[in-house]
Parts: sequence; structure tokens; C-alpha cells
Amino acid sequence: MRHFLADDDLSPDEQAQILAIAAKLKEDPYALKPLAGPRCVAVMFDKPTLRTQSSFAAGIAELGGYPMIVDGRLAGIGERESVADVARVLGRQSVAIVWRTFAQSRLEEMAEFSRVPTINALTDSYHPCQILADLLTIQERLGRLAGVSFAYLGDGANNMAHSYLLGCATAGMHVRIGAPAGFHPDPEVIARAGVIAARTGGSVTVTESIAEAVTGCQAVATDTWVSMGQQSSGRESVFVPYGVTTELMSHADPEAIFLHCLPAYRGKEVAAEVIDGPQSVVWDEAENRRHVQKAVLVFLDAAARGVEVEW
Ligand code: NVA
Repeated sequence: MRHFLADDDLSPDEQAQILAIAAKLKEDPYALKPLAGPRCVAVMFDKPTLRTQSSFAAGIAELGGYPMIVDGRLAGIGERESVADVARVLGRQSVAIVWRTFAQSRLEEMAEFSRVPTINALTDSYHPCQILADLLTIQERLGRLAGVSFAYLGDGANNMAHSYLLGCATAGMHVRIGAPAGFHPDPEVIARAGVIAARTGGSVTVTESIAEAVTGCQAVATDTWVSMGQQSSGRESVFVPYGVTTELMSHADPEAIFLHCLPAYRGKEVAAEVIDGPQSVVWDEAENRRHVQKAVLVFLDAAARGVEVEW
């Protein structure tokens, strides 16, 4: 059974295929109806959500299916009943499980015991659906992915940084993480991204130097300095120099675009003039969540049924 638990679950060819399906579905939202019936997809959240719940619900409906929204905290996954038992139950009610939770190991356990594809809707370690949306957005705006220099500034140890490393390396991009000491990505993820980049012609840089990260790059991204489940007290001041201001953007390519997965905190990780200015593509990113997630569902459902995606 194929799952989508981390960005490097997709080969470069598979990632490109999913982005192509997403672009086609963006043009023609009802072109593919693999969930017609409707077939149910379980969509569960242990953490807050806006874009993920709404984009999965809308996308599943457009594919002809029914989004079965399950409140993970009400279900008490891993407490009231084990992750394995939840996987067994939902696998009998749905054709795919979409889950936002805390530890990546919980999602991996869900996948292990699920007889349907399991999709990562954000964990503490990765946010791979968001990175696909960002890649589609970059492709739309810059016309290519391979060879694009991409900088992410801020908390280099969070889910977005890890997913950018893996997802952008898979796309053959030059991914640069600019983060303060103590907030660099997991060395194991950096190593995985490095191996992928060596194959795709991309590269991976992790640096404390803002100039090294940003100079000449064609896309700049950031994320909240306090991720869901973290305590804000005391951790924000170290990130202040990495805030994306117009001054920081001036070191990037003059045509560079600005990305943010949202929610955004204006005046903290990004200045209002940047996120609300002409270089910002954040609303395209938010919309593209729906298109790429539909493509992931189409791809994994076809794999589960042992058929080719017809499109
Ligand atoms: N790093 C953020 C991403 C939100 C979409 C968090 O985990 O809260």
C-alpha cells in the first residue's frame, strides 16, 4: 500500500506527475472523479486547521467523494483507543485516511495498520502537502522548478523546513535554509535531502548567514516562529534577524516571489509590506493546496487499486 507520509515518499518522476495532475485539475476541477459514489475519505485533526480541512473537504467533493471529518481529540486517538485500532476501523469506513497529528511515529503507525492510503496533513516533522502546493505555485510563477534557488528563513528545525529540504531537493531545486544556531534542521533530514539533490541536480545549504541564504534567490519563504504545540515564551527573539522584510527581500532576485504556508504573523516572521505586497503569492499557495491534494488522492487511490491514473 502506498502512503504519503513524508516528501521523499515520492520519486522525482512521481512528484512531477502529481504536479502535472494538479495543474490539469486546476484548469478543469471536475475532470477526474475517482471518488464518485461517493467514496469516503477520513480527514482527522489533532491540531488546529483552516486551509487543510477546507481544501481537503472541497477537493474530495470535487473528486466525487465525501469528506468524513473526524475530530481527533474527540476520538482520543492513542488514548481512548490505540492508533492501530483507529487505523483498522477507519480502513473499513473510508478509502483513504488524511491525518494531522503530533509525532511522525503516530502517523507511521496509522499507515502500518491501515489498509487504505494514509496521507500526512502535517506532523511535528513534515508538512508534505503544503510543499507540493508551494512547488505548484513556484512552477506557475517561474515556469520551472529544477535549478530554481529557494531560501527558507526562520525556524529551521520545524516541519516546513524539513519538508522544503526533501521536497525541493526532489524537484531539483537549490534549497537554502537560513536559521539561527540551535534551530537547524535534523541532520538526518539534511543528509536525506543531500542524497536526493545529488541525483536530481539540486543542492542543499544550511547556514546561519542570512546573506548566504537569500542572495540572488528566486523564491523566499518563511513560517511562524512558534509552531502548533510549541510554547512561545522565550523562543522568538533569536529569530528576529531572520524576519522577512523589504530590506531582506532586496537581496533576493528582483523578481523573487514570497511564500508563506499561513497562518502568518505580520511584524514577526514577515513584514506586512512583504506578505501583502506584489511579490507575495500566499493566496495562490492556499488555493493550490486543494489542487495538489486532489492529485495526491488520485495518485494513491490508483496505486491502491493497481490501475494507471487516466487523465
Ligand atoms: N510550522 C507550522 C506550520 C503551520 C501550517 C506549524 O506546525 O504550526
